[in-house]
Amino acid sequence: MQAKIEAALTVLQSGGTVAFPTETVYGLGADASNPLAVRQIFKIKGRPVDHPLIVHIENAGQLDQWARDIPDQAHLLAETFWPGALTLILQRHPHVLNEITGGQDTVGLRSPDHPVAAALLHAFGSGIAAPSANRFGRISPTTAQHVRDELGQQVGLILDGGACRIGLESTILSLAYGKPVLLRPGGIAVEALEATLKMKLSFAQNKNSTAQQYCPLVGQIRTSGMMAAHYAPVTPMELHSAEHIVQRAQHLTALKYKVVVLTLGRKIAGIEQNIRQHTMPAQAEQYGHDLYAALHSLDQAGYDYLLLESPPTTRTWLAVNDRLQRAAYSTQK
Ligand code: TXA
Ligand code: MG
Repeated sequence: MQAKIEAALTVLQSGGTVAFPTETVYGLGADASNPLAVRQIFKIKGRPVDHPLIVHIENAGQLDQWARDIPDQAHLLAETFWPGALTLILQRHPHVLNEITGGQDTVGLRSPDHPVAAALLHAFGSGIAAPSANRFGRISPTTAQHVRDELGQQVGLILDGGACRIGLESTILSLAYGKPVLLRPGGIAVEALEATLKMKLSFAQNKNSTAQQYCPLVGQIRTSGMMAAHYAPVTPMELHSAEHIVQRAQHLTALKYKVVVLTLGRKIAGIEQNIRQHTMPAQAEQYGHDLYAALHSLDQAGYDYLLLESPPTTRTWLAVNDRLQRAAYSTQK
């Protein structure tokens, strides 16, 4: 791997892009201090230029190179959860490129918990800007093959570090406007953040919550992961209760559509034998780990519809439900 890290380093230093594994999903990285390199990320992803990128750093000691007016809570969280699946949104340091922040006055920072990402960051010695290594709006990659399939030749180099341990993106918490606000549930449980901060967190997604007053950007949807339709497969995807899914699967099959039903932890009785059932784990963390890989493979399997049994709405399922709602959004309207 050391030779591959060195090759990746050369690509980054010459302004190219490197896809690399993290514990959450694969990132599409470029030198966060090189505007031309950062612009390539947007081009490859087809991402609107005003959607900000996360800067990946080696450790909490580098926080003040990228942010200023850092509240104590941010230091506490970084010390507790880094390296790990937590992205902190803070006031940007003046030198942070507009290309990174989308012109906003904040910056997203994360120290990933993966040996390959850590080795790359250590060798590079500075920040690596990296969104998930997928086209805009699509499912994030959890294996190097997913990146090859979707972005292939466009990426300078792909580092293969195996399947991602968590499989869902990081939790994003804004500390930029005083009170902490959850922008995206993810790899670190909200309860763990609350226990460390000794306070309840508000979730900015809830349009009626007071979170918006602390995070003015929410209303403008400048966090692409907060857009209603996102993380989506190409195949139409629907969410239904176990009860309704039987009817829906039968109806679509009668209309000659090819359907697969993703169930929770067991097969659903009453669905005809000729309809494929794909059993997903009944436990939230494991479900989150398997979700994107399942969607990637079923998306390529020629189905007309992916029908998913809705998981419970308890807090442990927050990140999974968030991604499912967005992935299914276009077919829910
Ligand atoms: O787990 C992850 O977070 C992965 C790995 C590669 O680190 N990265 C990732 O990046 O999911 P991306 O760009 O696909 O999603 C990051 C989200 C985006 O929705 C982006 O708009 C938001 O973070 N974001 C980044 N900087 C921000 C900022 N300054 N203010 C608000 N949102 C920000
Ligand atoms: Mg993404």
